[in-house]
Amino acid sequence: MRSCKIHDRQLNTRCGQLTHIAQQYDIPIANWLDLSTGIAPTSYPVPQIPEATWRRLPEKSNALIRAAQQYYQGQNLMPISGSQSMIQLLPELMTSQNKTVNRAFIPAIGYQEHKKAWANSCAKVCLYQDIAQLNALTAQDLVVVINPNNPTGTRYTTTQIGHLFEKIKKVGAMLVIDEAFMDGSPEHSFIQHSGDPQLMILRSMGKFFGLAGLRLGFLAAAPLG
Ligand SMILES: Cc1ncc(COP(=O)(O)O)c(C=O)c1O
Repeated sequence: MRSCKIHDRQLNTRCGQLTHIAQQYDIPIANWLDLSTGIAPTSYPVPQIPEATWRRLPEKSNALIRAAQQYYQGQNLMPISGSQSMIQLLPELMTSQNKTVNRAFIPAIGYQEHKKAWANSCAKVCLYQDIAQLNALTAQDLVVVINPNNPTGTRYTTTQIGHLFEKIKKVGAMLVIDEAFMDGSPEHSFIQHSGDPQLMILRSMGKFFGLAGLRLGFLAAAPLG
């Protein structure tokens, strides 16, 4: 049995590195175009934020949920501190839900934070090239699909994801779809299935809207039983 240790880096959320790199190369930050994270270089116009907002703790907002439901065309949405926070929390979340994950299937090429999160868990990380190869799954398997993928740009249609999900449903496994870059082609989103307990979908406000500093994303998943 593999031993599980919590590493310091698991406790920290992922940080930007632009300041560090700008200093290293002695080039002012304003002269850099940071392509490392796929964030739109122009951002959604942020209105003046009332001062009181900074003094109060964040609260649950039905208006925010309604706006997200309307925009994403999905139900069961929960705001999260960027999709990165949920990527890091997922292994622990599965354990807290008594969901044993023995194998985590992760795209061989793709956003490396998924691999890192599962490599620090008790599950075995299995890398795959294409979702069509994912056969012989079991109830203790979890599959991560990054759709569209970063950095390859590979995109699966809802029919292709649907075929994979049928296999997952049949054996009782879990499917996690990282849709951080889905805003440009919402017709490929699988979010309308997010009421299913074997499915979790991650969305990001950072990429398409150029609001990475806001640390806001959404988890679309069935309410906990
Ligand atoms: C595929 C993918 N998913 C998720 C994230 C995390 O983004 P955020 O935490 O800003 O939502 C990134 C960041 O680069 C990414 O490339």
